[in-house]
Amino acid sequence: MNGPADALVTIEIDLADLRGGEMITREAGGREILVCRTRDGVFAVDGQCSHAEARLCEGRLRGTRVICPLHGAAFDVRSGAVLRGPARQPIRAYPVRCDGARAWVTVPVVDTPDTSMAGQRRVID
Ligand code: FES
Repeated sequence: MNGPADALVTIEIDLADLRGGEMITREAGGREILVCRTRDGVFAVDGQCSHAEARLCEGRLRGTRVICPLHGAAFDVRSGAVLRGPARQPIRAYPVRCDGARAWVTVPVVDTPDTSMAGQRRVID
């Protein structure tokens, strides 16, 4: 079934803007995406820590680990897996394609239901 929950957006990163060992963020699909360039390649994950929502771009990238600036949780940017607590939930990882000069990250659009009519009766003419 196609619908907003199935929609995808692709963001393009010029790798001239992202050197090895660096990370940048982009807004896409209703969330912040953290794009990391490592010796193992370019990877993209959610920009927000799963523990208490700190911005991971304010942390450190060590190899393929990103370390949260707030309480020190570590995540594997290749998969989003938790490598060290206190976080328990992984962060989401996104597919990345690279041609050596650019990278493309595909991100599903967050399904944000329209709550403006919540609790109200809809009148349809
Ligand atoms: S907010 Fe990231 S470890 Fe607590």
